[in-house]
Amino acid sequence: MSIVKVYNVIGIMSGTSMDGIDCSYIKTDGVNFVSIINENSYKYSQNYRNKLKKIIKYLNNIKSLKEKQRIKKFENIVTNKFIQVIKKFIKDYNIKHSSIDYIGLSGQTVLHDPKNKKTIQLGSCKKIQKKLQIKIVGNFRENDIKNGGQGSPIGAFYHQYILNNYSSPAAIINLGGIANICYSHKKELIAYDLGPANVLIDDLMYYFYKKNYDKNGNKAINGKLDKKLIDFYKKDNFFKLNYPKSLDREYFKKYFNQLKKLKNNNAIHTASMMTIVCIDLGLKLIKKKINELIITGGGRKNLFLIKVLKKQCKNKGINIVLIDNLNFNGDLLEAQAFAYLAVRSVRKLPLSLPTTTGVKKPTLGGILYK
Ligand SMILES: Nc1ncnc2c1ncn2[C@@H]1O[C@H](COP(=O)(O)OP(=O)(O)O)[C@@H](O)[C@H]1O
Ligand SMILES: [Mg+2]
Repeated sequence: MSIVKVYNVIGIMSGTSMDGIDCSYIKTDGVNFVSIINENSYKYSQNYRNKLKKIIKYLNNIKSLKEKQRIKKFENIVTNKFIQVIKKFIKDYNIKHSSIDYIGLSGQTVLHDPKNKKTIQLGSCKKIQKKLQIKIVGNFRENDIKNGGQGSPIGAFYHQYILNNYSSPAAIINLGGIANICYSHKKELIAYDLGPANVLIDDLMYYFYKKNYDKNGNKAINGKLDKKLIDFYKKDNFFKLNYPKSLDREYFKKYFNQLKKLKNNNAIHTASMMTIVCIDLGLKLIKKKINELIITGGGRKNLFLIKVLKKQCKNKGINIVLIDNLNFNGDLLEAQAFAYLAVRSVRKLPLSLPTTTGVKKPTLGGILYK
């Protein structure tokens, strides 16, 4: 019997919410062993967040690929931020360099255009590796896209690892900037994006209140639903698409332009109900019985969202469980996922499947920088 090696890996994640960089130091074999050692989120300053927003706006307004390739000039800003945060994490937890086998780094997504098979994550693994002198596994999505996948959602195998604890059919919904779902039962693994979870709410909070998010859902609770707008939203073509499917932060921008015309809290309430709608419509696509729905990501702290979701799911016979009740920190799950994926990459195990990203066959991913 061969003994499978367990690696010490730091996973680094910065999602579409652009709220900060999450770091998780774990021991894992990339299959069925994970032990979390240290983890923390490092929040972005408002200044840095505004810089990222400007980069995204710029990239989404330019049409030609040639111009998009000029993004390199922005990349240094993001690369330096990663270096700064990783150094701080290592120092804060006194992690020895010799006790880090790899860093798994997702990069900062600034553009995701599945229709044209393009996705851009900023952050140069090569430069980070050179500066820190630690092996980096990055570019997790590139090979998937080359093989006909959408490059997203890429963390499904980690979610499956968690779902393996359940004998009855269960799914994980990640309420990040964008919501995605991962269903796993008896070897079957399905994952796809559902729609915006927090991006619309966050953008409206900034528009009306110069705040980054609706803390605990307090504004949504005090608003009223705009029935006409939500009925219009339900008819969006994205919801009609079958899985696999993924989504760009900008796709739902048109609704932001409608929502901002409403009264402040009514806009935030309606945007929050849009999140509920995309979960409801997304669940219908699965056409499978789900007993447990596990919620992770920052949106699980939005008490309004969770209250409405619990009520709706109760009627469908689905039990809502917050990931924290399974002893995982829901703010750091995706960082853990990239550490786990780094080991899968090194061990030449697939990262994506036809039923997760739409790739033609089980596909390896990630590039090792050493
Ligand atoms: N206390 C809270 N109340 C309501 N929403 C919250 C709270 N904390 C975080 N969030 C939401 O979660 C988002 C961050 O979630 P996260 O899982 O980090 O997403 P991403 O992976 O896109 O970065 C924030 O932008 C915010 O919308
Ligand atoms: Mg985040």
